[in-house]
Amino acid sequence: MTGTHTAAGGVTRRTVVAAAGTAGLGAALVACGGGSSGSSSASGPADAGGSAPGSGSGSSGPSDKASGGDDVLSKTADIPEGGGKIFADRKVVVTQPKANEFKAFSAVCTHQGCTVASISDGLIKCPCHGSEYSIADGSVKGGPAPSPLPPEQIKVSGGSISLA
Ligand code: FES
Repeated sequence: MTGTHTAAGGVTRRTVVAAAGTAGLGAALVACGGGSSGSSSASGPADAGGSAPGSGSGSSGPSDKASGGDDVLSKTADIPEGGGKIFADRKVVVTQPKANEFKAFSAVCTHQGCTVASISDGLIKCPCHGSEYSIADGSVKGGPAPSPLPPEQIKVSGGSISLA
């Protein structure tokens, strides 16, 4: 009876020691990782906080949530007729070449992959080397771009434009 009791005590004790050792190791790893990632994450949130209020991401965020899962890009009213709007964070350009006719293209320039930056005179323009694409069909109208901007599928419903 006494022998059994002692053996059980031994097992328990060894288990406790092993657990303590593991916990100690875990704590050491956490402390180490926390220390190194602490410095990099310190700049991350600062960056995000700095850009969110001023940039377009602030406007697309709330509309995503309001739509309840639909990938809403914009309201149709926000896309100028005969022009368009660039959603750089989504890498999509939405245009309205004619009244109530909406089109979408990739915003990634086919030349060297810059994001197109402006729309004027019926053209989507890349700032890097001056490629220009038609807002009507994405075709190349100028510059070194080797091929048209690929079309993106969109859905227009209830005054909202979402990625299909
Ligand atoms: S990357 Fe757009 S013109 Fe060169």
